[in-house]
Parts: sequence; C-alpha cells; structure tokens
Amino acid sequence: VVLFGASGHLARNKVLPALFHIFRDASVPDSFFVLGFGRTPLSDTAFCGQIRTALGAEAGSDAAREFLARCGYCTGSYHDPASFKELGSRLAQMHSRWATGGRTLFHLAVPPDLFGPIATNLGKAGLASAPKSAPFRRLMVEKPFGRDLASAKRLNAELLRHFRDEDIFRIDHYLGKNTVQNILVFRFANAVFEPVWNRRYIDHVQLSFSETEGVEFRPGFFDSTGLIRDVLQNHMLQLLCLVAMEPPDSFDPERIRDRKFQLLRSLRIRDPAADILRGRYSAGSLDGHALQPYLEEPGVRPDSTAETWFAAKVYSDNPRWRGVPFFLRGGKRLDRREASISVVFKRPSYCMLCRSDESPAPNTLSFLIQPEQAVSLSFQAKVPGSKMCFAPLKMEFDYDRAFGAHPRTDYETLLLDGMNGDQSLFWRKDGVEAAWRLLESSLALWDSLPADSRHSALLTYPAGSIGPGEMDAFIRKEGRDWI
Ligand code: BG6
Repeated sequence: VVLFGASGHLARNKVLPALFHIFRDASVPDSFFVLGFGRTPLSDTAFCGQIRTALGAEAGSDAAREFLARCGYCTGSYHDPASFKELGSRLAQMHSRWATGGRTLFHLAVPPDLFGPIATNLGKAGLASAPKSAPFRRLMVEKPFGRDLASAKRLNAELLRHFRDEDIFRIDHYLGKNTVQNILVFRFANAVFEPVWNRRYIDHVQLSFSETEGVEFRPGFFDSTGLIRDVLQNHMLQLLCLVAMEPPDSFDPERIRDRKFQLLRSLRIRDPAADILRGRYSAGSLDGHALQPYLEEPGVRPDSTAETWFAAKVYSDNPRWRGVPFFLRGGKRLDRREASISVVFKRPSYCMLCRSDESPAPNTLSFLIQPEQAVSLSFQAKVPGSKMCFAPLKMEFDYDRAFGAHPRTDYETLLLDGMNGDQSLFWRKDGVEAAWRLLESSLALWDSLPADSRHSALLTYPAGSIGPGEMDAFIRKEGRDWI
C-alpha cells in the first residue's frame, strides 16, 4: 500500500490504524508493506514514530513491531515528477524486499485538488494502471470527488487517462460501516418489508447526520467545502440509495451500482432555492463548555459563507417513490453525535379505537448507524388496565447485544475490499456524477449569490443545540415533524 498524505490527519487517525489491524488479524498476507508519501520531510524512523503514536496502547505489541518493520516513507512534492521517480525506485525495492509480486494499492488521503496531479504523475512515472495480466495497480481516492458536476467530470476524465475504471476506488467511508451494509440485508434478505417498501405504505423518510465536533483539524478544507459538499453529496446520498434503490438482481458490485445510479438519476430537488436550507453555528455551549462561533474558529476566513448545517427535501420520480419526500439534514457542532435513518409509515386509514380527530402515531422503522448500532420498529401496544388505551413502544435490535464482537471498522473493510478488487462499496463514475447533478442547480444558485446575500440567507444556531429553529417550519409545511 502506498499512502499519499501519510503524515496527515486522516492517515494517522483512520488509514494507518486500519492497515495495522488488518495486518494484525492476518487478513493480509505476509508479503505486505506500507510506503508513506508526503510533503512533510520525515525519515522512516520518524514516520514509524508517528504510526506508534497513532496505534496508542497497541504500539508495543509483537504485531506492531512486525508491522512497523514493513513501513517506510518518501518525502516529495505531489506536483513534481522527480518525486514520483524516486517513489518508483523505493517502491521497486520494497516490492522485492517483501515479495509482493508488485501488486500495489495507492491510497490518496489528500485534499481533492491533489487527486488529478497525483494520478498524472503516477502515470508519467509508469506507476499507473498495469495491463490486465500484470499485478494490479489500484487507485483509492477520498471524497469529495470534485466540487460540482463539471469538476467531477474533469476529475473522472483525468483519473481515467491513467487508471482503468475497474482500478479506481472512489471512497465513501459510510459504505464501510457495518450498520450501513445491514440496510441491504434488512431490505432484501427479509420477506416482510419489501411488499410495504413503497409510496402506498411509506409516508416519508428522514435521514440525519449530526456531530458535536466543529471543523477541528481541517478548517481550510471545510471552509472551502461546506457541509453540503462534505457530507450531503456523498454519505447522505449513499444512505438514501441504500434505503430507496430497487433490489439488484444479484449482489454483483456492478448490479448494485447500477441500481444506485438509477435511483440517483430519479432524484429531484423541486425548488433549488427553497428546498435546501443552510445554517452556521454561532457561540454556544455543550456539556458546560463554551463553544466559539464558526467564524471565530482558527483557520476559518472571517468572511466565510460555508454552511455547517443543512436540511434538504428530495423526491424520486420513480414509480415506487413518486410523491414521497425524503428529508435530509446534517450539522456540525450540534448537541449529539448520531447518524440515523427513519422510515415513517402512513398512519392507519381507519382506527376504530380512536376518536374521529385522533389517529395513532405512525409506525417508524429506524436504522441507527452510529454511535448506537441498532434497528428499531415503533408500534402501538395496549396499556395495561381496563380501558382500551394504547401507547407507542419500540422493538429493538442492538448490534452489540446481538453479536457481541465488534465488526471491522469502515476503513478496514474498504482497504481490504480495495486489495481484493471488490468495488461494491465504492462510488462508480456515473453515480458520483449523478449525485452532483442532483445538487447542481442549488449549488450554482448559492454560489452565484453576492456574499452579503449568502450571509443573510445562512440560518444561525447556537453551537451545541439541535440546529436552527427554522428547521421545524421547513418540515411542518409538509405536514410532518422531525423525529
Ligand atoms: C467525513 C467528513 O467524510 O465524515 C467529515 O469529511 C465528517 O466532516 C466525517 O466529520 C464523519 O465520519 P464519521 O465516520 O465520524 O461519522
């Protein structure tokens, strides 16, 4: 594995620990090494020191010692072909030292504007896609993939000049989460849900993403990206695909990605101005700690108009979902960390137990993705006593309680899939472009507004709260409430 951005935050926090874990668990063969590449000048020893810090308590184990013996580092510039020549020589030595047969996975844990230059320089150095018969050379890129439709198309074209499509792995780490993959099993391996999984029985669907963190270690990246491009265009639309796509005719990666593409193509934002709200946090507090406003976070431009919160309403034009709204909302610096999907069923059309002006709460099926990993179904039950009263209850399946063992982390799953050449959990070219196409008018409209109009259109919410007050009116105007 060649890891670009090896001294960066993502590499330290997610990728290197994941690589160590799959090595420790013997999920990769002994013929394995990690070659880091980055701008920060580091010796092999200093790089291993960083990895040790990232591994924390595990750093002293025998497995960690064996892993560290397989790690090296190259200092270089992403834009300089000479650095890639040097990388090529070092890579050849490592391949021969560890008898890998030359199979290489390039992982790009770098900002998106570097994907193109790195792929091009790999191509120039003769390190890009190899002929089919030769040992594989694969490229794994992080998200966001571009910043709009035009740039995503350009990037696809640029990468495809040097790598075959089957060798490009466009990451969405949400797809590596066990609870996210469970959505497919839940829908397609159980017979009871599919018959009611449509506009006749489902009233609407809510997808929500909330974090307590602010911009933390990457203010520069976030400030030029905003939460819609950072999370809605990718993680949330992938969740929506899993909930709403048609059943694939097999679990073949291409069949799954065909279905996602069809769904993405059917999605519409009816009013690009009114159906997406944007917000930004002001000063607030969480657990007794004062939190500063977004505009005062270190590294954020004082005149920034990046959104740290959004709510969006999306429809699908296909026969299964016509008329069913999908509400998506996400925010940073909210009161909790949680990602969830709630499928809200229609209320019974007639309930002989209710007064004429009443109806029982709708059944809601919730997928809790994190931090709790669970699936629950709410239903009505009779309250004990002589009167015929009912109250909503929940049936719940909890991952930890049911299975005990902790599943692999998202990055462990994705890195192994990349090594095994399994594309099921990665974005395909047409899918990523369809996701940008859905948001295109709204993004273009927003970007075209003068800065002062964007400032005044951003709703504010106190850091540590549940989000802007206006979000209630947004959903109530559709006759629904947030879960
Ligand atoms: C990343 C976003 O893709 O996902 C971050 O860039 C976000 O802004 C993160 O914090 C959330 O991932 P997770 O797995 O912690 O929910």
